[in-house]
Amino acid sequence: MEFNEEYAMDRREFAARSLAAVAGAALSPAVYASSQNPAASVPGAIPEPVIKNARFPEGFLWGVGTASYQNEGAWNEDGKGESIWDRFTHTPGKVRGGVTGDVSCDQYHLFAQDIALARKLNIKSYRFSISWPRIQPTGVGAPNMKGLDHYSRFVDTLLEAGIRPWCTMYHWDLPQALEDRGGWPNRELANYFADYAGILAKHLGDRITVWAPFNMPWAIAFMGYAAGAFPPCRTSFTDFLKAAHTLGLAQGEAHRAVKAASSKATFGSAYEMAPAYPRTDSDEDRAAADRYHAMNNVFFLEAAMKGRYPNAFVGEPPLDVMGFKAGDEKILYAPPDWIGFHYYTRRVVSDASKEGFQSGGKFSGTEIENNSPGGRDPYTRFRAAMPTEGPLTEAGLEIWPRGIYDLVTKISRDYDHPTIEITESGCGYLDGPDEEQHGRIPDTRRIQWYRQTLAELSRAIAEGARVRAFHAWTLLDNLEWANGYTERYGLIYTDFRNQRRTIKDSGYWYGRVAASNRLDV
Ligand code: BGC
Ligand code: BGC
Ligand code: BGC
Repeated sequence: MEFNEEYAMDRREFAARSLAAVAGAALSPAVYASSQNPAASVPGAIPEPVIKNARFPEGFLWGVGTASYQNEGAWNEDGKGESIWDRFTHTPGKVRGGVTGDVSCDQYHLFAQDIALARKLNIKSYRFSISWPRIQPTGVGAPNMKGLDHYSRFVDTLLEAGIRPWCTMYHWDLPQALEDRGGWPNRELANYFADYAGILAKHLGDRITVWAPFNMPWAIAFMGYAAGAFPPCRTSFTDFLKAAHTLGLAQGEAHRAVKAASSKATFGSAYEMAPAYPRTDSDEDRAAADRYHAMNNVFFLEAAMKGRYPNAFVGEPPLDVMGFKAGDEKILYAPPDWIGFHYYTRRVVSDASKEGFQSGGKFSGTEIENNSPGGRDPYTRFRAAMPTEGPLTEAGLEIWPRGIYDLVTKISRDYDHPTIEITESGCGYLDGPDEEQHGRIPDTRRIQWYRQTLAELSRAIAEGARVRAFHAWTLLDNLEWANGYTERYGLIYTDFRNQRRTIKDSGYWYGRVAASNRLDV
């Protein structure tokens, strides 16, 4: 309950509080100097000439991302089982405005129209997710053919439109029946997930070649089991660590299951990442920023690449708490074919290991963190704040285009120049139809956000980062999780009263970018 009230707090108010929290912090000059442009009036802004000169390589995959629960609706059709998000949104008081995803954008029925719109915007890659309870209503056992048929038609429609289908196997909608068996802290879910992954690859792997197991595995574990902000709303750090380990095991098992069922499969990821800057130059804050990076950015990546977790902890890794068994290294080890991650905003991180730990850190959304004394949890012991030096989007996230450059170049360096896909990046603004302009939607702030972020991405590519795709979040306005329909991230406006779609100015702009590989269009 307490978490919910906090969650419902207006995010601008929340951001203002975080500003107070970092105010006066001695931000390391080395970190910020290169992003300060005397010509720009807005902190963090990218100069116009950099945007005008930005180019993307021939064949770059301009994409969009969506997620089953946020878009599909049809929550109980064609044999679909209940998911934890159905249960959550059907519980009074959980979601802003008391809304649900029962209908949402009704994409389950309207997908052909949405794919036609994506084609109109010159989209080359469509990242969607499959709803596990449509395929296995209780999370185990024989597949529901109606569910598979739906995604089979979805994939065929994408291919007919000349768009690459990109499949996330899990974007948070766990079958409720598996939560009833203990949820992600139950290690057996790794095997159930691998079975599910094998079913998908067997039935769709003749056409889908790009697979990722989880959208934002850290968030699944922490937001669901430690912060309690997302279903199943538990507040146990032990459950969080156990869930994290099950997700690590599931990632490895699913990789092998997919490869066994489809010879065309490539396997990657959709991690959330935020570049972490130490709050001061002290060794303690630097170490804390490294722990943030290890926990939030590369925990599951390192598990797959090296068969062990990076040291995200103060002191020894709590392997016993996680339920780590001898031999698990071999299960974790499954190096990805390419690395996919999101970029929204950055973090400033400070050490909290010398303070007494108090439970009850406060969260808002998946991108804003506010921590209690002693840090976010009793194991990592850091405080991570989203600074507000740059302006905020209407969804309350700081605009910091430079962050994508720092993140992409770091991952490139640290992992020997892997193939990278940006799996999500975008911003929330509420612009709607302007009646005086015949219903046109002039969302210039979103265009500006993408121009700057993409200019920074192109700089990283020019310096050698092997980024082959960028997926804008998102194709059309949808259910923004616990914030309901109060945030709009789409390139296309959804009128939820009548399901009418209207391409925003940003959508037309993105379509021109996709056609020309440049930003001054
Ligand atoms: C290093 C990475 C390392 C990570 C986790 C980062 O600061 O650059 O190579 O994996 O910390 O320890
Ligand atoms: C939350 C939003 C937040 C977003 C950031 C969503 O799940 O509902 O409040 O802005 O995550 O990723
Ligand atoms: C999530 C999306 C969400 C977006 C914007 C991402 O972290 O994967 O589902 O809608 O942020 O908040």
